Amino acid sequence: MFAWIEATPVALWVSLSLWAYPVLLSIHIIGLGIVVGIFLIRDLRLLGMYQGLHPAAFLPLSKFAWVGFIINAISGVLLFTSQATVFAENIAFLLKISMIILGMVLAGVIQSRMRAEIASGEGAVISRSTKIVALISLLTWAGAIIAGRLVAYI
Ligand code: HEM
Repeated sequence: MFAWIEATPVALWVSLSLWAYPVLLSIHIIGLGIVVGIFLIRDLRLLGMYQGLHPAAFLPLSKFAWVGFIINAISGVLLFTSQATVFAENIAFLLKISMIILGMVLAGVIQSRMRAEIASGEGAVISRSTKIVALISLLTWAGAIIAGRLVAYI
């Protein structure tokens, strides 16, 4: 199946065109800047930093983070097609995708916890368990970026 993907016209365009791969990778970096940037600051706020920022500010911002994720899903799949047989067996790539899936699942968990804790009227008080989830989320996204960068080296 991956060899078939690599032989498709779009995959050949990505791999043979002078500009497609670098432009897609640039778009990919912009996407990760949006999604990881928002989730990183959210998690640091939930862990107690930037007390001037009310956690409620991240409820609408998380929607923009999903825009970043969709940009990365589209640009990532296009990048993937060009060397599908290689990436599908690359441990760093598989690790990265696993951590991205975990990061997005945790984003949903944190979003519903934040909504509930803000609605409880306790102001900006964040529970200990939500802080633990935020710490795991922060480490997961850091790991996704490191694994993503290592794809080219492993
Ligand atoms: C929010 C989600 C994502 C993040 C944070 C992310 C992160 C990264 C990072 C840090 C790189 C390395 C960039 C570089 O070498 O300059 C990268 C490259 C790449 N990503 Fe993603 N990515 C995401 C989603 C995806 C998805 C969904 C796919 C495909 C299914 C994907 C496929 C790729 C591919 C094929 C490369 C190029 C590897 C290379 O040429 O070295 N990414 N990504």
